[in-house]
Amino acid sequence: MTENTTLKIGIAGLGTVGASVVKIIQEEQEMLAARAGRAIKIAAVSARDKSRDRGIDLSGIAWADNAETMAENPDIDVVVELVGGSEGTAKNLVMQALQNGKDVVTANKALLAHHGAEFFALAKKNGRALAFEAAVAGGIPIIKALREGLAANHISAVYGILNGTCNYILTEMWRNGLDFETALQQAQEEGYAEVDPSFDIDGVDAAHKLTILSALAFTGRPDFAHVETEGLRNVSAVDIDYAAELGYRIKLLGIARLTPDGVVQTVAPCMVPEESNLAAVEGATNAVFIEGDRVGPTLYVGAGAGGNATASAVIADLVDIARGNVPPSGAFVETEKTVPFDSREGRFYLRLTVEDRIGVMADVTAVLRDHKVSMKSILQYGQGGAKSVPLIMITHKAKEAAVRDALAALAALDAVQEKPCVLRVEIPGGTEEI
Ligand SMILES: NC(=O)c1ccc[n+]([C@@H]2O[C@H](COP(=O)([O-])OP(=O)(O)OC[C@H]3O[C@@H](n4cnc5c(N)ncnc54)[C@H](OP(=O)(O)O)[C@@H]3O)[C@@H](O)[C@H]2O)c1
Repeated sequence: MTENTTLKIGIAGLGTVGASVVKIIQEEQEMLAARAGRAIKIAAVSARDKSRDRGIDLSGIAWADNAETMAENPDIDVVVELVGGSEGTAKNLVMQALQNGKDVVTANKALLAHHGAEFFALAKKNGRALAFEAAVAGGIPIIKALREGLAANHISAVYGILNGTCNYILTEMWRNGLDFETALQQAQEEGYAEVDPSFDIDGVDAAHKLTILSALAFTGRPDFAHVETEGLRNVSAVDIDYAAELGYRIKLLGIARLTPDGVVQTVAPCMVPEESNLAAVEGATNAVFIEGDRVGPTLYVGAGAGGNATASAVIADLVDIARGNVPPSGAFVETEKTVPFDSREGRFYLRLTVEDRIGVMADVTAVLRDHKVSMKSILQYGQGGAKSVPLIMITHKAKEAAVRDALAALAALDAVQEKPCVLRVEIPGGTEEI
């Protein structure tokens, strides 16, 4: 193998993912060269702090004080962006690298969710690869599955558990009866959540990933502005308990679904049947369903984060580039428009806190009937003289907009004592009714 066939890479960012990429490439040089058909060599690296001990051997590798200079370095064929963030160094580096005719590999979902359309156009114009397997669901090869493995299918839905931190928190709430705040604190203590957890628990991270999946399946370009996003902050221990009583688990799902009007994209806490595959996905694991017209529903489960798992996906992209096996950015289809979430039709869980007196149930059902929302199941509790009691309902299929209007009307009833709680019910796996 001669030096000029070697694929030379520059790695910007040597944190959790970057350090693992360096380590695996160094440890598995021979295996990767055999699989890629040529050697992969780390020509340069960059991070903020040169003196920090990262537990990796950087001897013999050039250090770039300014990561952006890698975009102009003639010794680098591929820039690997592992800095993170949708602006600043990451954005400048990716843009300049593509402009200068270099291939780019990134794990940066925030960058692609916000600027993907611009970067994919730039990559296409310059005939370069912009590879991003690690940006969605960490180590699960979901991009390859969607874009290549399912190329013969029209996709009707892509959805799943896209954020391990949220799934860990929900698992702990359900398994150990913790409230949200306690489960979050535990997630932080055990390293599953950042000190500032808002990106994860407010659903933004999952929305970034969903945007990318939806672009591949439907829209042709990442459209983050049209993802309706709701995080975990309003999920309470009581709803987890009632969900369990009704035979459901609560999961934070990212959902992109084709409706007759267009594509709806949402991230929200949803109830899934306890016997479904998604209900069984616990802890920090990710799981993604893709429904294709020819293959039917397919499910992908695995580690959605962590140094080694994410590096596994980064290196898979490098091996593809080394082989010359690079899907053009034009593999994005451009067909469907996104539409507001009102177009969604599905089942809902409603929890009302109502006065415990005769006639309340009739008032509630009248409001639902007036909005064409019918009930599938009801749990009603009398609490031995308590003034207010919970009233729990699962609806039959109803329009999002109808349920929202019904909730406003229910909240206005004298007998309803607190803001009603609503969760969507999703039936994974392509079956409408279980
Ligand atoms: N961690 C995961 O499990 C995971 C999973 C999937 C995707 N990702 C994505 O992978 C990317 C990297 O994540 P990470 O967890 O490895 O982050 P991280 O541990 O915070 O590492 C970030 C690295 O970037 C370096 N850096 C920051 N600003 C820089 C600058 N201006 N110039 C050069 N280097 C700079 C930091 O340098 P210092 O070390 O000197 O501070 C650090 O080495 C992100 O886009 C993230 O969303 C991560």
